[in-house]
Amino acid sequence: MSIIMSNVTKSFGNPPVSVLKGVSAEIREGEMVSITGRSGSGKSTLLYIISSLDRPTAGDVRVNNISLFSLSSRELHEFRNQKMGFVFQFHHLLPELSALENILMPSLKMKLAQDRRSFAQDLLREFGIADKANNLPSQLSGGEQQRVAIARALVMRPAFLLLMNPPEIWTQ
Ligand SMILES: Nc1ncnc2c1ncn2[C@@H]1O[C@H](COP(=O)(O)OP(=O)(O)OP(=O)(O)O)[C@@H](O)[C@H]1O
Ligand SMILES: [Mg+2]
Repeated sequence: MSIIMSNVTKSFGNPPVSVLKGVSAEIREGEMVSITGRSGSGKSTLLYIISSLDRPTAGDVRVNNISLFSLSSRELHEFRNQKMGFVFQFHHLLPELSALENILMPSLKMKLAQDRRSFAQDLLREFGIADKANNLPSQLSGGEQQRVAIARALVMRPAFLLLMNPPEIWTQ
């Protein structure tokens, strides 16, 4: 598994303002890569493109040698669900579901929940919150909520895990 970015270019607006100007890079399975840069430099934009949530203006992203932008929207949805795990700074847990149910959400969509239940419980144990499986997010601490969000991102055993900070934490 690898992600290869070739000449990824992104501009916004009219007249176009370019944010990414020909980014090329390769990320291989097992590598840990961090993207740093000043606020507004294009980190989130690049992550949205890598994860196929947004399209580049020019250039290509290939995963396992398949161009993401040649896939249909159904194939892209499946790719994101099975290959990519996402953790945002704001965890977006569903408030009416328990910790365990939140973790199982990605597998419910694929009708795999029975399969994944014991793995989800392993993750809860590994993260030290096995006794909180039935708590609602509002009954968890901030760090516990964040660990539930990470467990949810791992439950499909994705090939890639994307961890994103929003600009908010820098401007607070
Ligand atoms: N949908 C959009 N329309 C117009 N401009 C946008 C859009 N999304 C992002 N931008 C602009 O693109 C630039 C890069 O934004 P991006 O969110 O990628 O920055 P970032 O590196 O993640 O910054 P931060 O560290 O603050 O999160 C910014 O100048 C932003 O204003
Ligand atoms: Mg950002």
